[in-house]
Amino acid sequence: VKPSPKPAPRTIAEAIDACRDRLVGHSPTPWLDARLLAQFITGLDASAVIAYGDAVLDRGRKARLFELTERRAAGEPVAYLVGRKSFCGLDIAVDRRALVPRPETEALVEACVEGLRDRGQVQVRIADVGTGSGAIACALAHFLPEAAIVASDVSTDALELAAHNIERLGFAEQITLVRSDVLDGYASDARFDALVANLPYVADDAADDLEPGVRDHEPTVALMSGADGLDAYRKLMAQAPRHLDAEGSLYVECASTHAAALAKLARSAFPNTRVEVRRDLAGLDRYVIARPAQQ
Ligand SMILES: C[S@@+](CC[C@H](N)C(=O)[O-])C[C@H]1O[C@@H](n2cnc3c(N)ncnc32)[C@H](O)[C@@H]1O
Repeated sequence: VKPSPKPAPRTIAEAIDACRDRLVGHSPTPWLDARLLAQFITGLDASAVIAYGDAVLDRGRKARLFELTERRAAGEPVAYLVGRKSFCGLDIAVDRRALVPRPETEALVEACVEGLRDRGQVQVRIADVGTGSGAIACALAHFLPEAAIVASDVSTDALELAAHNIERLGFAEQITLVRSDVLDGYASDARFDALVANLPYVADDAADDLEPGVRDHEPTVALMSGADGLDAYRKLMAQAPRHLDAEGSLYVECASTHAAALAKLARSAFPNTRVEVRRDLAGLDRYVIARPAQQ
């Protein structure tokens, strides 16, 4: 006996089920993705999309939902499809001009905010190098309302998106955008209390190991960084001592495979600081932090 085909989805809940089924094997999180896409299409929030699951989904919205589901099945990140990503509680606009901010980068922001607060520093000058969507700079501005932040990137596309986020989230008075290859474009006398960076760190020959959704959709300039993946960070470590206050701290994010090499670079760039490698929630070495030795 042939199994009877599933009836065409009619309600929001049925449409979500159909999208989830379509995404199994194509996404590690089919259920979450289906719900996020349905939220976007219906304009309902996470709880309402469940509470109104029995409501009929009109033909136009259903077609749009299935179209986005197909794009997701082909590898496009959900954040690009819905144009949004939550980061440190902020609603960051995202698109193909910049990397989708990652949850592990929230801990980089947290480390920086805690480090500065522990030292009683609130009216601080911070640089976010390789700002992308502007997520780190906006989160720092949010948690440290008295901080003055310079956010820079080599990509004009990324800077346009960052400018949009800074404006719509109301941080234009706190954040200055600069186009700069690492610190080349900074004034020679610019000094900061903290330098924060999540620069690209994928080695050229590791491109094939990236998830296809990342490799094919996120900007190459946000991912790749030379033969060993450390080109951007090598340049940062060479330039940073000139721009970091004597009592300043450095917070950078990297791949676990690069943490030891990056810590070594940080130790030789900042011999009088305490350099520490911290792990992310998955237990992977992810952050390299250099702080004044007495802290
Ligand atoms: C891994 S993405 C991170 C973006 C953002 N900081 C975040 O955490 O979501 C790296 C960013 O560094 C920028 N970038 C790459 N090479 C750079 C360079 N040489 N100088 C400045 N920015 C660079 C890219 O354009 C991209 O926006």
